[in-house]
Amino acid sequence: MSFSETPAWWKEAVFYQIYPRSFADSNGDGIGDLPGITSRLDYLKDLGIDSLWISPIYQSPNDDNGYDISDYLEIGPEYGTLADFERLSAGLKERGLRLILDQVLNHTSDEHPWFIESRSSRTNAKRDWYHWVDPKGYDAAGKPIPPNNWKSVFEGSVWEWDDLTKQFYLHLYSRKQPDLNWRNPAVRQALHRVLKTWATRGADGFRLDVINQIAKRDGYPDVPPVTGEAGELLLLDALGCNNPPQAEYLEEMHREVFAGTELYAVGETWFVGPENTLDLTAYDARRLHGAFYFYFHSAQSGADHFRRFYELYEATRGRSWLTVTLGNHDSRRSLSRFGDPERHPFASATLLATWLLTLPATPFLFQGEELGLTDILFNTIEEYRDIGALNRYAVDLAAGKSPAEALAAAQASTRDHSRTPMPWDDSPGAGFTTGKPWIGIPESHQPLNAAAAYANPRSVFHAYRKLLALRKRVKSLVYGDWAPLAQPGLVLAYRRGTWEGHPAVEVYLNWSSEPQPWPTAAPATETLWANHADIDATALRPWEARIHLAL
Ligand code: NOJ
Repeated sequence: MSFSETPAWWKEAVFYQIYPRSFADSNGDGIGDLPGITSRLDYLKDLGIDSLWISPIYQSPNDDNGYDISDYLEIGPEYGTLADFERLSAGLKERGLRLILDQVLNHTSDEHPWFIESRSSRTNAKRDWYHWVDPKGYDAAGKPIPPNNWKSVFEGSVWEWDDLTKQFYLHLYSRKQPDLNWRNPAVRQALHRVLKTWATRGADGFRLDVINQIAKRDGYPDVPPVTGEAGELLLLDALGCNNPPQAEYLEEMHREVFAGTELYAVGETWFVGPENTLDLTAYDARRLHGAFYFYFHSAQSGADHFRRFYELYEATRGRSWLTVTLGNHDSRRSLSRFGDPERHPFASATLLATWLLTLPATPFLFQGEELGLTDILFNTIEEYRDIGALNRYAVDLAAGKSPAEALAAAQASTRDHSRTPMPWDDSPGAGFTTGKPWIGIPESHQPLNAAAAYANPRSVFHAYRKLLALRKRVKSLVYGDWAPLAQPGLVLAYRRGTWEGHPAVEVYLNWSSEPQPWPTAAPATETLWANHADIDATALRPWEARIHLAL
Protein backbone atom coordinates (compact mmCIF):
# COMPACT_ATOMS: atom_id res chain seq x y z
CA MET A 1 0.00 0.00 0.00
CA SER A 2 1.33 3.43 -0.87
CA PHE A 3 1.36 6.18 1.71
CA SER A 4 -1.79 7.64 0.10
CA GLU A 5 -3.73 4.44 0.75
CA THR A 6 -2.45 3.74 4.25
CA PRO A 7 -5.07 4.58 6.88
CA ALA A 8 -4.56 7.22 9.56
CA TRP A 9 -7.19 8.85 11.77
CA TRP A 10 -6.38 12.30 10.44
CA LYS A 11 -6.81 11.17 6.84
CA GLU A 12 -10.31 9.85 7.51
CA ALA A 13 -11.39 12.60 9.87
CA VAL A 14 -13.49 15.53 8.74
CA PHE A 15 -12.55 18.58 10.81
CA TYR A 16 -14.91 21.35 11.83
CA GLN A 17 -13.38 24.71 12.65
CA ILE A 18 -14.86 26.60 15.57
CA TYR A 19 -14.23 30.29 15.95
CA PRO A 20 -14.90 30.25 19.70
CA ARG A 21 -15.85 33.92 20.13
CA SER A 22 -18.75 33.37 17.79
CA PHE A 23 -19.89 29.81 18.39
CA ALA A 24 -22.00 29.69 21.56
CA ASP A 25 -22.08 31.96 24.62
CA SER A 26 -23.08 30.24 27.87
CA ASN A 27 -22.91 33.16 30.31
CA GLY A 28 -24.50 36.08 28.51
CA ASP A 29 -21.37 38.23 28.17
CA GLY A 30 -21.79 38.29 24.40
CA ILE A 31 -18.65 36.21 23.74
CA GLY A 32 -18.72 32.52 22.86
CA ASP A 33 -16.99 30.25 25.39
CA LEU A 34 -15.92 26.69 26.18
CA PRO A 35 -19.09 25.68 28.08
CA GLY A 36 -20.98 27.01 25.05
CA ILE A 37 -19.06 24.64 22.79
CA THR A 38 -19.62 21.75 25.22
CA SER A 39 -23.37 22.47 25.15
CA ARG A 40 -23.39 22.01 21.35
CA LEU A 41 -21.44 18.75 21.10
CA ASP A 42 -24.56 16.74 20.28
CA TYR A 43 -25.23 19.04 17.32
CA LEU A 44 -21.69 18.42 16.05
CA LYS A 45 -21.85 14.70 16.62
CA ASP A 46 -25.18 14.56 14.84
CA LEU A 47 -23.78 16.54 11.90
CA GLY A 48 -21.20 13.78 11.61
CA ILE A 49 -17.85 15.53 11.86
CA ASP A 50 -14.97 13.70 13.56
CA SER A 51 -12.75 16.36 15.02
CA LEU A 52 -12.80 19.98 16.03
CA TRP A 53 -10.20 22.62 15.38
CA ILE A 54 -10.79 25.44 17.83
CA SER A 55 -9.20 28.83 17.11
CA PRO A 56 -7.12 30.19 20.06
CA ILE A 57 -8.71 29.98 23.51
CA TYR A 58 -5.76 31.20 25.57
CA GLN A 59 -5.15 34.30 27.61
CA SER A 60 -4.87 37.25 25.27
CA PRO A 61 -5.49 40.98 25.18
CA ASN A 62 -7.42 40.18 21.98
CA ASP A 63 -5.80 42.71 19.73
CA ASP A 64 -6.22 40.04 17.01
CA ASN A 65 -8.96 37.94 18.64
CA GLY A 66 -6.70 35.53 20.46
CA TYR A 67 -3.95 35.23 17.83
CA ASP A 68 -1.96 37.42 20.24
CA ILE A 69 -1.31 35.13 23.18
CA SER A 70 -0.15 36.43 26.56
CA ASP A 71 -0.18 33.03 28.29
CA TYR A 72 -0.01 29.83 26.24
CA LEU A 73 -1.01 27.60 29.13
CA GLU A 74 -3.98 29.48 30.59
CA ILE A 75 -7.48 29.69 29.18
CA GLY A 76 -8.64 33.25 28.45
CA PRO A 77 -11.19 34.27 31.11
CA GLU A 78 -13.78 35.12 28.44
CA TYR A 79 -13.63 31.47 27.33
CA GLY A 80 -13.68 29.86 30.79
CA THR A 81 -11.22 27.88 32.87
CA LEU A 82 -9.02 24.81 32.62
CA ALA A 83 -11.84 22.89 34.33
CA ASP A 84 -14.13 23.97 31.46
CA PHE A 85 -11.50 22.71 29.01
CA GLU A 86 -11.41 19.36 30.83
CA ARG A 87 -15.21 19.11 30.64
CA LEU A 88 -15.10 19.88 26.93
CA SER A 89 -12.38 17.29 26.42
CA ALA A 90 -14.36 14.67 28.33
CA GLY A 91 -17.51 15.49 26.34
CA LEU A 92 -15.59 15.02 23.10
CA LYS A 93 -14.11 11.70 24.23
CA GLU A 94 -17.54 10.40 25.28
CA ARG A 95 -18.73 11.03 21.74
CA GLY A 96 -15.64 9.66 20.03
CA LEU A 97 -14.67 13.10 18.73
CA ARG A 98 -11.15 14.52 18.62
CA LEU A 99 -9.76 17.98 19.05
CA ILE A 100 -6.89 19.91 17.58
CA LEU A 101 -5.90 23.19 19.16
CA ASP A 102 -4.69 26.31 17.41
CA GLN A 103 -1.20 27.28 18.45
CA VAL A 104 0.41 30.56 17.52
CA LEU A 105 4.13 29.97 17.68
CA ASN A 106 5.37 32.64 15.28
CA HIS A 107 4.57 35.49 17.64
CA THR A 108 3.23 36.28 21.10
CA SER A 109 1.31 39.21 22.47
CA ASP A 110 3.42 42.19 23.54
CA GLU A 111 1.80 41.52 26.94
CA HIS A 112 3.35 38.05 27.19
CA PRO A 113 5.85 37.97 30.11
CA TRP A 114 8.57 36.84 27.67
CA PHE A 115 8.19 40.05 25.68
CA ILE A 116 7.81 42.24 28.75
CA GLU A 117 11.16 40.90 29.96
CA SER A 118 12.71 41.09 26.51
CA ARG A 119 11.86 44.74 26.04
CA SER A 120 12.99 45.72 29.56
CA SER A 121 16.68 46.07 28.68
CA ARG A 122 19.24 45.18 26.03
CA THR A 123 20.94 42.84 28.48
CA ASN A 124 17.87 40.96 29.65
CA ALA A 125 18.19 37.17 29.33
CA LYS A 126 15.15 37.10 27.03
CA ARG A 127 16.32 39.98 24.81
CA ASP A 128 17.20 37.54 22.07
CA TRP A 129 13.81 35.80 22.19
CA TYR A 130 12.44 38.40 19.75
CA HIS A 131 13.86 40.27 16.75
CA TRP A 132 15.48 43.47 18.05
CA VAL A 133 17.31 45.48 15.42
CA ASP A 134 19.09 48.86 15.33
CA PRO A 135 17.68 51.67 13.21
CA LYS A 136 19.10 52.13 9.74
CA GLY A 137 19.94 55.66 10.82
CA TYR A 138 18.06 58.79 11.81
CA ASP A 139 16.26 61.24 9.53
CA ALA A 140 16.80 65.01 9.55
CA ALA A 141 14.20 65.39 12.30
CA GLY A 142 16.05 62.81 14.43
CA LYS A 143 13.45 60.13 13.82
CA PRO A 144 14.79 56.57 13.71
CA ILE A 145 14.62 54.93 10.27
CA PRO A 146 13.30 51.32 10.27
CA PRO A 147 15.80 48.58 9.37
CA ASN A 148 14.04 47.75 6.11
CA ASN A 149 10.92 48.32 4.00
CA TRP A 150 8.94 45.22 5.00
CA LYS A 151 5.24 45.84 5.28
CA SER A 152 3.04 44.28 7.96
CA VAL A 153 0.14 42.05 6.94
CA PHE A 154 -2.02 44.49 8.92
CA GLU A 155 -0.66 47.64 7.21
CA GLY A 156 2.31 49.87 8.00
CA SER A 157 5.90 48.88 8.74
CA VAL A 158 6.72 45.60 10.46
CA TRP A 159 9.08 47.57 12.72
CA GLU A 160 7.99 49.20 15.97
CA TRP A 161 10.36 51.59 17.72
CA ASP A 162 10.98 51.05 21.40
CA ASP A 163 12.18 54.24 22.98
CA LEU A 164 13.43 52.61 26.18
CA THR A 165 16.18 50.58 24.54
CA LYS A 166 16.41 52.49 21.23
CA GLN A 167 15.86 49.53 18.94
CA PHE A 168 13.05 48.31 16.70
CA TYR A 169 11.23 45.02 17.15
CA LEU A 170 9.72 43.00 14.34
CA HIS A 171 6.01 42.22 13.99
CA LEU A 172 4.67 40.67 10.79
CA TYR A 173 1.14 41.26 12.13
CA SER A 174 -0.01 43.97 14.56
CA ARG A 175 2.49 45.88 16.70
CA LYS A 176 0.97 43.98 19.62
CA GLN A 177 2.15 40.69 18.04
CA PRO A 178 5.97 40.70 18.22
CA ASP A 179 7.61 37.84 16.29
CA LEU A 180 9.55 35.26 18.27
CA ASN A 181 13.15 34.62 17.31
CA TRP A 182 13.26 30.95 16.34
CA ARG A 183 17.04 31.17 15.86
CA ASN A 184 17.27 30.89 19.64
CA PRO A 185 17.06 27.21 20.75
CA ALA A 186 15.60 28.23 24.12
CA VAL A 187 12.61 29.76 22.30
CA ARG A 188 12.06 26.59 20.34
CA GLN A 189 12.27 24.43 23.48
CA ALA A 190 9.77 26.65 25.28
CA LEU A 191 7.36 26.30 22.36
CA HIS A 192 7.78 22.53 22.26
CA ARG A 193 6.88 22.47 25.96
CA VAL A 194 3.68 24.38 25.19
CA LEU A 195 2.61 21.76 22.64
CA LYS A 196 3.54 18.87 24.93
CA THR A 197 1.57 20.36 27.79
CA TRP A 198 -1.60 20.62 25.70
CA ALA A 199 -1.08 17.10 24.41
CA THR A 200 -1.02 15.83 27.99
CA ARG A 201 -4.19 17.85 28.61
CA GLY A 202 -5.97 15.96 25.86
CA ALA A 203 -5.29 17.66 22.51
CA ASP A 204 -5.06 15.28 19.54
CA GLY A 205 -2.93 17.66 17.54
CA PHE A 206 -2.42 21.23 16.49
CA ARG A 207 -3.21 23.73 13.80
CA LEU A 208 -0.02 25.75 13.70
CA ASP A 209 -0.60 29.40 12.87
CA VAL A 210 1.57 30.88 10.07
CA ILE A 211 4.10 28.14 10.73
CA ASN A 212 6.02 28.80 7.53
CA GLN A 213 6.86 32.34 8.58
CA ILE A 214 9.00 31.32 11.56
CA ALA A 215 12.34 31.60 9.75
CA LYS A 216 13.12 35.18 8.74
CA ARG A 217 15.52 36.03 5.97
CA ASP A 218 18.98 36.56 7.49
CA GLY A 219 20.09 40.16 7.65
CA TYR A 220 16.51 41.44 7.10
CA PRO A 221 17.23 42.67 3.56
CA ASP A 222 14.99 45.23 1.84
CA VAL A 223 12.59 43.84 -0.73
CA PRO A 224 12.32 45.60 -4.08
CA PRO A 225 9.40 48.05 -4.06
CA VAL A 226 6.63 46.66 -6.27
CA THR A 227 2.98 47.51 -6.47
CA GLY A 228 -0.19 45.61 -7.24
CA GLU A 229 -1.15 42.10 -6.27
CA ALA A 230 2.11 40.58 -7.45
CA GLY A 231 3.94 43.15 -5.35
CA GLU A 232 2.01 42.28 -2.24
CA LEU A 233 2.89 38.64 -2.75
CA LEU A 234 6.53 39.35 -3.32
CA LEU A 235 6.66 41.49 -0.23
CA LEU A 236 5.06 38.86 1.97
CA ASP A 237 7.13 36.11 0.47
CA ALA A 238 10.29 37.96 1.17
CA LEU A 239 9.12 38.73 4.67
CA GLY A 240 9.90 35.30 5.80
CA CYS A 241 7.82 32.55 4.23
CA ASN A 242 9.54 29.26 3.55
CA ASN A 243 13.06 30.42 4.32
CA PRO A 244 15.80 28.11 5.57
CA PRO A 245 16.24 26.89 8.29
CA GLN A 246 12.49 26.29 8.44
CA ALA A 247 12.89 22.60 7.55
CA GLU A 248 15.28 22.05 10.48
CA TYR A 249 12.95 23.81 12.90
CA LEU A 250 10.03 21.66 11.78
CA GLU A 251 12.00 18.42 11.91
CA GLU A 252 13.18 19.25 15.41
CA MET A 253 9.59 20.01 16.47
CA HIS A 254 8.46 16.73 14.94
CA ARG A 255 11.13 14.79 16.86
CA GLU A 256 10.42 16.56 20.14
CA VAL A 257 6.62 16.59 20.06
CA PHE A 258 5.05 14.39 17.38
CA ALA A 259 7.30 11.37 16.74
CA GLY A 260 5.92 8.13 18.13
CA THR A 261 2.53 9.69 18.90
CA GLU A 262 -0.80 9.89 17.08
CA LEU A 263 -0.73 13.69 17.27
CA TYR A 264 -1.55 15.53 14.05
CA ALA A 265 0.18 18.72 12.90
CA VAL A 266 -1.42 20.84 10.20
CA GLY A 267 0.27 24.05 9.28
CA GLU A 268 -1.27 27.31 8.28
CA THR A 269 1.05 27.83 5.37
CA TRP A 270 1.21 30.72 2.94
CA PHE A 271 2.64 30.47 -0.57
CA VAL A 272 2.43 26.71 -0.65
CA GLY A 273 1.41 25.08 -3.90
CA PRO A 274 2.42 22.14 -6.08
CA GLU A 275 6.01 23.30 -6.35
CA ASN A 276 6.81 23.31 -2.63
CA THR A 277 4.18 21.38 -0.69
CA LEU A 278 6.42 18.34 -0.33
CA ASP A 279 8.97 20.52 1.47
CA LEU A 280 6.48 20.80 4.28
CA THR A 281 4.46 17.61 4.17
CA ALA A 282 6.38 14.72 2.57
CA TYR A 283 5.70 11.89 5.02
CA ASP A 284 9.32 10.76 5.03
CA ALA A 285 10.64 14.26 5.74
CA ARG A 286 8.81 14.22 9.10
CA ARG A 287 7.94 17.89 9.31
CA LEU A 288 4.15 18.45 9.17
CA HIS A 289 1.35 15.99 8.40
CA GLY A 290 -0.67 18.52 6.48
CA ALA A 291 -0.70 22.07 5.20
CA PHE A 292 -3.45 24.48 4.25
CA TYR A 293 -3.59 25.56 0.63
CA PHE A 294 -4.63 29.16 0.22
CA TYR A 295 -3.93 28.28 -3.33
CA PHE A 296 -7.59 27.03 -3.36
CA HIS A 297 -8.99 30.15 -1.75
CA SER A 298 -7.94 32.31 -4.66
CA ALA A 299 -9.49 30.01 -7.31
CA GLN A 300 -11.67 31.95 -9.72
CA SER A 301 -13.97 29.21 -11.01
CA GLY A 302 -14.83 25.55 -10.64
CA ALA A 303 -12.37 24.69 -13.38
CA ASP A 304 -9.72 26.61 -11.50
CA HIS A 305 -10.44 24.71 -8.26
CA PHE A 306 -10.21 21.50 -10.20
CA ARG A 307 -6.96 22.36 -11.93
CA ARG A 308 -5.37 23.45 -8.67
CA PHE A 309 -6.44 20.30 -6.89
CA TYR A 310 -5.21 18.19 -9.76
CA GLU A 311 -1.81 19.88 -9.72
CA LEU A 312 -1.42 19.39 -5.99
CA TYR A 313 -2.58 15.80 -6.16
CA GLU A 314 -0.16 14.93 -8.93
CA ALA A 315 2.72 16.67 -7.17
CA THR A 316 2.20 14.87 -3.87
CA ARG A 317 0.70 11.52 -4.85
CA GLY A 318 2.03 8.71 -2.68
CA ARG A 319 4.32 11.05 -0.70
CA SER A 320 2.03 13.27 1.31
CA TRP A 321 -1.61 13.78 2.21
CA LEU A 322 -3.53 16.91 1.23
CA THR A 323 -6.10 19.02 3.05
CA VAL A 324 -8.99 20.84 1.47
CA THR A 325 -10.92 23.83 2.76
CA LEU A 326 -13.19 26.40 1.20
CA GLY A 327 -13.14 29.00 3.93
CA ASN A 328 -12.04 29.92 7.42
CA HIS A 329 -12.14 32.82 9.89
CA ASP A 330 -9.84 34.89 7.67
CA SER A 331 -11.78 34.59 4.46
CA ARG A 332 -15.10 35.63 3.03
CA ARG A 333 -17.89 33.04 3.21
CA SER A 334 -17.25 30.26 0.70
CA LEU A 335 -20.83 30.26 -0.58
CA SER A 336 -20.60 33.96 -1.46
CA ARG A 337 -17.23 33.52 -3.13
CA PHE A 338 -17.70 30.32 -5.05
CA GLY A 339 -21.46 29.63 -5.25
CA ASP A 340 -24.60 31.48 -6.32
CA PRO A 341 -26.35 32.36 -3.05
CA GLU A 342 -28.85 34.66 -4.77
CA ARG A 343 -30.30 32.31 -7.36
CA HIS A 344 -29.25 28.83 -6.23
CA PRO A 345 -28.45 28.91 -2.52
CA PHE A 346 -29.26 25.27 -1.76
CA ALA A 347 -27.82 23.73 -4.90
CA SER A 348 -24.62 25.75 -4.91
CA ALA A 349 -23.97 25.31 -1.15
CA THR A 350 -24.44 21.56 -1.47
CA LEU A 351 -22.32 21.33 -4.60
CA LEU A 352 -19.50 22.96 -2.64
CA ALA A 353 -20.10 20.45 0.15
CA THR A 354 -19.89 17.60 -2.37
CA TRP A 355 -16.58 18.87 -3.67
CA LEU A 356 -15.18 19.32 -0.16
CA LEU A 357 -16.17 15.82 0.93
CA THR A 358 -15.25 13.68 -2.07
CA LEU A 359 -11.53 14.37 -2.50
CA PRO A 360 -8.48 12.38 -1.36
CA ALA A 361 -7.66 15.04 1.21
CA THR A 362 -8.64 15.85 4.79
CA PRO A 363 -11.63 18.23 4.63
CA PHE A 364 -11.92 21.17 6.99
CA LEU A 365 -15.29 22.79 7.13
CA PHE A 366 -15.82 26.11 8.81
CA GLN A 367 -18.63 26.81 11.26
CA GLY A 368 -21.78 27.99 9.51
CA GLU A 369 -20.91 26.50 6.12
CA GLU A 370 -23.31 23.69 7.02
CA LEU A 371 -26.05 26.33 7.37
CA GLY A 372 -25.29 28.00 4.07
CA LEU A 373 -24.20 31.28 5.71
CA THR A 374 -23.21 34.08 3.34
CA ASP A 375 -21.16 37.30 3.51
CA ILE A 376 -22.41 40.09 5.74
CA LEU A 377 -22.92 43.83 5.35
CA PHE A 378 -22.74 46.38 8.16
CA ASN A 379 -23.57 50.01 7.38
CA THR A 380 -20.99 51.75 9.55
CA ILE A 381 -17.30 51.16 10.25
CA GLU A 382 -18.07 51.14 14.00
CA GLU A 383 -19.85 47.82 13.58
CA TYR A 384 -16.75 46.07 12.23
CA ARG A 385 -14.26 44.41 14.58
CA ASP A 386 -11.51 42.94 12.36
CA ILE A 387 -8.22 44.70 13.11
CA GLY A 388 -7.08 44.14 9.51
CA ALA A 389 -10.13 45.96 8.11
CA LEU A 390 -10.00 48.74 10.72
CA ASN A 391 -6.32 49.42 10.07
CA ARG A 392 -6.90 49.44 6.31
CA TYR A 393 -9.79 51.87 6.77
CA ALA A 394 -7.55 54.28 8.70
CA VAL A 395 -4.80 53.97 6.09
CA ASP A 396 -7.31 54.59 3.27
CA LEU A 397 -8.62 57.72 4.99
CA ALA A 398 -5.11 58.98 5.58
CA ALA A 399 -4.35 58.37 1.90
CA GLY A 400 -7.21 60.68 0.91
CA LYS A 401 -10.04 58.22 0.21
CA SER A 402 -13.51 59.42 1.22
CA PRO A 403 -15.13 57.71 4.25
CA ALA A 404 -17.63 56.08 1.86
CA GLU A 405 -14.83 54.66 -0.32
CA ALA A 406 -12.88 53.46 2.70
CA LEU A 407 -16.02 51.86 4.15
CA ALA A 408 -16.78 50.12 0.85
CA ALA A 409 -13.25 48.66 0.83
CA ALA A 410 -13.66 47.42 4.41
CA GLN A 411 -17.10 45.96 3.65
CA ALA A 412 -15.71 44.00 0.73
CA SER A 413 -12.59 42.54 2.28
CA THR A 414 -13.19 42.29 6.02
CA ARG A 415 -12.55 39.02 7.83
CA ASP A 416 -15.74 39.75 9.80
CA HIS A 417 -17.70 38.08 6.98
CA SER A 418 -16.97 34.75 8.59
CA ARG A 419 -16.74 35.90 12.21
CA THR A 420 -20.31 36.80 13.11
CA PRO A 421 -22.11 34.52 15.61
CA MET A 422 -23.65 31.17 14.74
CA PRO A 423 -27.43 31.59 14.45
CA TRP A 424 -28.85 28.72 16.51
CA ASP A 425 -32.54 29.69 16.56
CA ASP A 426 -34.86 32.61 15.86
CA SER A 427 -34.84 34.11 19.36
CA PRO A 428 -33.29 37.56 19.99
CA GLY A 429 -29.55 36.86 20.20
CA ALA A 430 -30.17 33.94 17.81
CA GLY A 431 -29.62 31.41 20.60
CA PHE A 432 -25.96 32.50 20.52
CA THR A 433 -26.21 34.81 23.52
CA THR A 434 -28.72 36.24 25.96
CA GLY A 435 -26.57 39.39 26.16
CA LYS A 436 -25.19 41.84 23.62
CA PRO A 437 -23.07 39.97 21.06
CA TRP A 438 -19.48 41.19 20.64
CA ILE A 439 -20.23 41.66 16.94
CA GLY A 440 -23.65 42.09 15.33
CA ILE A 441 -25.70 39.10 14.20
CA PRO A 442 -26.65 39.86 10.59
CA GLU A 443 -30.36 39.81 9.89
CA SER A 444 -29.69 37.87 6.71
CA HIS A 445 -28.34 34.97 8.82
CA GLN A 446 -31.31 34.65 11.14
CA PRO A 447 -33.60 32.62 8.83
CA LEU A 448 -30.68 30.24 8.25
CA ASN A 449 -30.54 29.28 11.93
CA ALA A 450 -29.66 25.73 12.97
CA ALA A 451 -33.06 24.90 14.50
CA ALA A 452 -34.86 25.79 11.25
CA ALA A 453 -32.25 23.89 9.22
CA TYR A 454 -32.68 20.86 11.42
CA ALA A 455 -36.44 20.89 10.94
CA ASN A 456 -36.16 21.11 7.16
CA PRO A 457 -35.10 17.85 5.49
CA ARG A 458 -34.12 19.83 2.34
CA SER A 459 -31.67 22.08 4.21
CA VAL A 460 -27.95 22.47 3.56
CA PHE A 461 -27.43 21.04 7.05
CA HIS A 462 -29.06 17.71 6.18
CA ALA A 463 -27.13 17.56 2.91
CA TYR A 464 -23.86 17.89 4.86
CA ARG A 465 -25.10 15.28 7.28
CA LYS A 466 -25.76 12.78 4.51
CA LEU A 467 -22.51 13.52 2.72
CA LEU A 468 -20.54 13.16 5.93
CA ALA A 469 -22.21 9.81 6.61
CA LEU A 470 -21.46 8.69 3.05
CA ARG A 471 -17.77 9.57 3.32
CA LYS A 472 -17.61 7.54 6.51
CA ARG A 473 -19.38 4.53 4.98
CA VAL A 474 -17.75 4.49 1.52
CA LYS A 475 -14.04 4.72 2.31
CA SER A 476 -13.03 4.84 -1.33
CA LEU A 477 -14.13 8.50 -1.01
CA VAL A 478 -11.15 8.92 1.31
CA TYR A 479 -8.48 6.56 0.03
CA GLY A 480 -9.50 5.58 -3.50
CA ASP A 481 -7.40 6.77 -6.40
CA TRP A 482 -8.64 10.07 -7.93
CA ALA A 483 -8.92 10.41 -11.70
CA PRO A 484 -10.61 13.08 -13.81
CA LEU A 485 -13.41 12.08 -16.21
CA ALA A 486 -14.37 14.05 -19.32
CA GLN A 487 -15.27 17.64 -18.41
CA PRO A 488 -17.58 19.18 -21.00
CA GLY A 489 -18.58 22.83 -20.53
CA LEU A 490 -18.45 23.83 -16.89
CA VAL A 491 -18.90 20.31 -15.55
CA LEU A 492 -16.32 18.77 -13.27
CA ALA A 493 -16.32 15.01 -13.06
CA TYR A 494 -14.01 12.50 -11.43
CA ARG A 495 -13.78 8.91 -10.39
CA ARG A 496 -12.65 7.53 -7.05
CA GLY A 497 -11.13 4.06 -7.36
CA THR A 498 -11.85 1.08 -5.15
CA TRP A 499 -10.17 0.71 -1.79
CA GLU A 500 -10.11 -2.41 0.41
CA GLY A 501 -13.41 -3.75 -0.89
CA HIS A 502 -15.11 -0.34 -1.04
CA PRO A 503 -16.66 0.41 -4.44
CA ALA A 504 -15.45 2.87 -7.05
CA VAL A 505 -17.65 5.96 -7.38
CA GLU A 506 -18.12 8.82 -9.81
CA VAL A 507 -18.78 12.44 -8.93
CA TYR A 508 -20.47 14.92 -11.28
CA LEU A 509 -20.57 18.62 -10.49
CA ASN A 510 -22.13 21.34 -12.59
CA TRP A 511 -20.14 24.21 -11.13
CA SER A 512 -22.30 26.90 -12.75
CA SER A 513 -25.72 28.57 -12.79
CA GLU A 514 -26.60 27.28 -16.29
CA PRO A 515 -27.53 23.77 -17.44
CA GLN A 516 -24.52 21.81 -18.72
CA PRO A 517 -24.10 18.66 -20.83
CA TRP A 518 -23.38 15.29 -19.27
CA PRO A 519 -19.77 14.15 -19.79
CA THR A 520 -21.11 10.96 -21.44
CA ALA A 521 -24.61 9.53 -21.10
CA ALA A 522 -26.26 10.29 -17.75
CA PRO A 523 -25.16 7.54 -15.34
CA ALA A 524 -27.58 4.64 -14.99
CA THR A 525 -25.90 3.28 -11.85
CA GLU A 526 -27.13 3.71 -8.28
CA THR A 527 -27.19 7.28 -6.97
CA LEU A 528 -25.32 7.49 -3.67
CA TRP A 529 -26.12 11.14 -3.18
CA ALA A 530 -27.51 14.03 -5.23
CA ASN A 531 -28.83 17.52 -4.57
CA HIS A 532 -31.81 16.97 -6.90
CA ALA A 533 -34.41 14.27 -6.31
CA ASP A 534 -34.35 12.86 -9.83
CA ILE A 535 -32.00 12.74 -12.77
CA ASP A 536 -32.50 14.72 -15.98
CA ALA A 537 -30.96 12.65 -18.77
CA THR A 538 -30.65 15.66 -21.07
CA ALA A 539 -28.49 17.93 -18.89
CA LEU A 540 -27.04 18.60 -15.47
CA ARG A 541 -29.12 21.36 -13.87
CA PRO A 542 -27.53 24.51 -12.37
CA TRP A 543 -25.19 23.52 -9.52
CA GLU A 544 -26.31 19.91 -9.72
CA ALA A 545 -24.05 17.56 -7.76
CA ARG A 546 -24.29 13.77 -7.98
CA ILE A 547 -22.35 10.82 -6.62
CA HIS A 548 -22.94 7.49 -8.37
CA LEU A 549 -21.58 4.02 -8.05
CA ALA A 550 -19.12 3.49 -10.89
CA LEU A 551 -19.82 0.77 -13.43
C1 NOJ B 1 -3.42 33.63 10.78
C2 NOJ B 1 -4.70 33.62 11.54
O1 NOJ B 1 -5.58 32.73 10.93
C3 NOJ B 1 -5.20 35.06 11.55
O2 NOJ B 1 -6.51 35.17 12.04
C4 NOJ B 1 -4.23 35.88 12.34
O3 NOJ B 1 -4.58 37.24 12.25
C5 NOJ B 1 -2.80 35.72 11.82
N1 NOJ B 1 -2.46 34.37 11.50
C6 NOJ B 1 -1.81 36.18 12.83
O4 NOJ B 1 -1.74 35.28 13.90
